[in-house]
Amino acid sequence: MADRFFLFYFVFSHAADTITQTQPLSDSEGTTLVSKDGGFVLGFFSPGDSTNRYLGIWYGNIPIKTVVWVANRRNPITDSSGVLMVNSSGSLVLLKQNSTVAWLANSTKQAGNSKVQLLDSGNLVLREENEENPENYLWQSFDYPSDTWLPGMKIGWDLRTRLERRLTSWKSPDDPSPGEMSWGIELGEYPEIVMKKGSDKFFRSGPWNGRVFSGIPELRATPVYDFSFVSNKDEVYFMFHMIKTSLISRAVMNQTQYERYIWVDGNWERYLNFPKDNCDNYNFCGAYGNCIIGESPVCQCVKGFKPKSPDTWNPNEWSKGCIRSTQLSCQDKDKIGFDKFFGYKLPDTTNSWVNLSMNLEECRVKCMNNCTCMAYSNTDIRDGGSGCAMWFGDLIDIRQIALPGQDANSLHQDVYIRMPASGKGKNGEQCDDTFFSLATIATATNNFSSNKKLGTLTDGQEIAVKRLSQSSGQGLNEFKAEVTLIAKLQHHNLVRLLGYCIEGQEIMLIYEYMPYGSLDFFIFDQTRARILGWSMRFDIICGIARGLLYLHEDSRLRIIHRDLKASNILLDSKMNPKIFDFGIARIFGGDQTEGNTNRVAGTYGYMAPEYAIDGLFSVKSDVFSFGILLMEILSGKKNRGSFHPSDGLNLVQHAWKLWKEDKPLDLIDTCLEDSCILLEIVRCLHISFLCLQQHPEDRPNMSFVVMTLRGERKKLPSSRKNQSSSTNEITITLLEAR
Ligand SMILES: *[C@@H]1O[C@H](CO)[C@@H](O)[C@H](O)[C@H]1NC(C)=O
Ligand SMILES: *[C@@H]1O[C@H](CO)[C@@H](O)[C@H](O)[C@H]1NC(C)=O
Ligand SMILES: *[C@@H]1O[C@H](CO)[C@@H](O)[C@H](O)[C@H]1NC(C)=O
Ligand SMILES: *[C@@H]1O[C@H](CO)[C@@H](O)[C@H](O)[C@H]1NC(C)=O
Ligand SMILES: *[C@@H]1O[C@H](CO)[C@@H](O)[C@H](O)[C@H]1NC(C)=O
Ligand SMILES: *[C@@H]1O[C@H](CO)[C@@H](O)[C@H](O)[C@H]1NC(C)=O
Ligand SMILES: *[C@@H]1O[C@H](CO)[C@@H](O)[C@H](O)[C@H]1NC(C)=O
Ligand SMILES: *[C@@H]1O[C@H](CO)[C@@H](O)[C@H](O)[C@H]1NC(C)=O
Ligand SMILES: *[C@@H]1O[C@H](CO)[C@@H](O)[C@H](O)[C@H]1NC(C)=O
Repeated sequence: MADRFFLFYFVFSHAADTITQTQPLSDSEGTTLVSKDGGFVLGFFSPGDSTNRYLGIWYGNIPIKTVVWVANRRNPITDSSGVLMVNSSGSLVLLKQNSTVAWLANSTKQAGNSKVQLLDSGNLVLREENEENPENYLWQSFDYPSDTWLPGMKIGWDLRTRLERRLTSWKSPDDPSPGEMSWGIELGEYPEIVMKKGSDKFFRSGPWNGRVFSGIPELRATPVYDFSFVSNKDEVYFMFHMIKTSLISRAVMNQTQYERYIWVDGNWERYLNFPKDNCDNYNFCGAYGNCIIGESPVCQCVKGFKPKSPDTWNPNEWSKGCIRSTQLSCQDKDKIGFDKFFGYKLPDTTNSWVNLSMNLEECRVKCMNNCTCMAYSNTDIRDGGSGCAMWFGDLIDIRQIALPGQDANSLHQDVYIRMPASGKGKNGEQCDDTFFSLATIATATNNFSSNKKLGTLTDGQEIAVKRLSQSSGQGLNEFKAEVTLIAKLQHHNLVRLLGYCIEGQEIMLIYEYMPYGSLDFFIFDQTRARILGWSMRFDIICGIARGLLYLHEDSRLRIIHRDLKASNILLDSKMNPKIFDFGIARIFGGDQTEGNTNRVAGTYGYMAPEYAIDGLFSVKSDVFSFGILLMEILSGKKNRGSFHPSDGLNLVQHAWKLWKEDKPLDLIDTCLEDSCILLEIVRCLHISFLCLQQHPEDRPNMSFVVMTLRGERKKLPSSRKNQSSSTNEITITLLEAR
């Protein structure tokens, strides 16, 4: 018995990623093919409650059977007669009863001597026995996706062969035959991803703008996986690959939605899904209707347009959309202009035209000269913006994705919509046409004072732009202070300012680009939080502390940030934290250590009591905010608005209670538990409490914090845990720290 088991194990754990003509795979014998690293298995299975047999591929190393590909999805086998073989003319065929063909690999070429191999990627490939190029396939399953998108699998088109790779849902969990939902790239002048229900558009991604699809900025690189979009004369496709190769991730087109999963802690965690709300439903608001989630009404006409049926502008009427408030006169060019709109999901591209070598001004002129051209934009927002896209006829399926000032990662673009000319003329946009070109910005603006730093830039550097609108509360003086200030600062843990641009009322700051966005995006999301294990978090905490220390003590000036919070910590491509947004920072000269303001600017939930109540700020009010941030990074919870259900305490009060009860680890984000280094966590928690003391003078300074974090201090002030902690304000006092 043991010998037979050993033999079985030996045969199937070694030679079994390949079948040749002499080794078919048979359902009745229960044989399977296993990829070399054991990650994927090819074999026969019955889905859900069905008894039908299908040939499919599933994960080999996870306990939940998750099928990622099905061969004979349209043609089930009703018994166990299925046999997969390479027949003597070299074709890969699945035979059933009476040797009839249930499925065959639709290979364009025949090869006498071929073999089939299940690769570690989950790709089943057919190739010639003696083919020297390992990537020269006669056929591959990645060209015929079922409902699942795996790393390395292209979704889109091979234009040379007109092969389309598209995800198609299963009919039901019991039936893998093609259902009505599908997800793929819609070819055309300006390609975009379209989810279809039957032949109807159900949801569109908006076109690719160089960084993201304009309507789904969430679908972008993370520390776990990366995306690439390729569009050239041979191919148009979208692909992802794993950066953290130890993790498993897949995307699925299910019966209603597109969803992405990551395998964590023995389960599939859902990471993303589309459509995510009503505004994602195709053409929800009709022509020129802008869908704005969270506003009432959710559909609002684009500025310059009014509801087509104003008396009944309601959910039943939204699809009728909007019409112009003032008619356009086409011929008289002086009466035509374009208004700039920011943060829109770009309109449906069915009637669009693209020229990748035109610039925005050429685009404007061309659009102006064609009466049916209703809008234009850059096709690519990187490197200063390039390319020209034009839209003809009504603009549909618009939604507000971001607001001005909310685009720290520079993922969005402007779209210019044809309007009756307003008084201001076309010069108002000058700055934007020079928009990302730093050299031009330097000349176009007041010769940015620190332009020597700009000179060190290399071509094609990725940048981020922060727009300041009039309503942001930040005036020109504050802006100029911010610019001169940050331009002089250089530290690994500060976001670097590269340039700026002023044009009339509009102000733009150009920063280095931070691919992973802000810290709050990760720590406050259950799934994304899992990406940040303890050592990563600890590095982030130390980095923030060093950046703040630099601002407080190490730069030539003493700078108080005054708005330190998770969303002002950005992450670079190596997940290094960088402090962002010095808009309300103040410079202190010499020995001035405390200031007073009658305009408290900052964020509730992070403000020190003396600042929130009396407007007093100092390095110690930043230290307080740091303490809150530290607590949030440890717990994965927001201080503001998070009340612990059992005791009604806010995050800090709850943490203090646990600390006094000697249960500090109960506070820690559960997803950290695996990776915790107890000593460091307790140290961080302790530092957080020291920072949160009510009296500024009791709080430590940042050099103390930085040293203590790294354990360079022998002993922390110990806590006697007998101090008061009232429930409606933070009055934590650790006497020994004085
Ligand atoms: C192998 O399968 C292909 C596809 O079904 C078929 O055209 C061919 O005749 C088969 N060859 C043999 C020798 O049966
Ligand atoms: C298989 O062949 C036998 C004999 O020709 C026939 O009676 C039977 O119906 C066939 N079965 C199938 C499933 O085609
Ligand atoms: C097989 O390939 C040919 C040519 O590439 C194509 O016309 C045909 O539709 C394909 N058949 C199937 C079932 O995919
Ligand atoms: C499809 O995905 C959505 C979103 O992830 C989920 O709520 C729904 O239950 C899924 N449907 C099926 C049939 O699995
Ligand atoms: C695209 O624009 C470039 C630059 O303006 C021009 O030379 C080229 O002819 C245009 N191509 C088309 C197809 O219009
Ligand atoms: C305007 O653009 C449309 C769509 O590309 C085109 O059919 C039409 O010929 C253009 N008209 C002019 C005057 O260029
Ligand atoms: C900026 O500097 C350039 C070259 O030194 C000069 O020609 C230009 O007038 C200056 N512009 C402003 C607004 O100061
Ligand atoms: C920071 O605090 C430490 C310990 O309290 C003290 O020794 C040091 O002088 C302080 N540094 C500054 C710059 O205030
Ligand atoms: C807290 O500890 C200090 C120092 O040991 C002591 O003087 C004080 O009475 C204690 N307070 C309470 C409320 O126990």
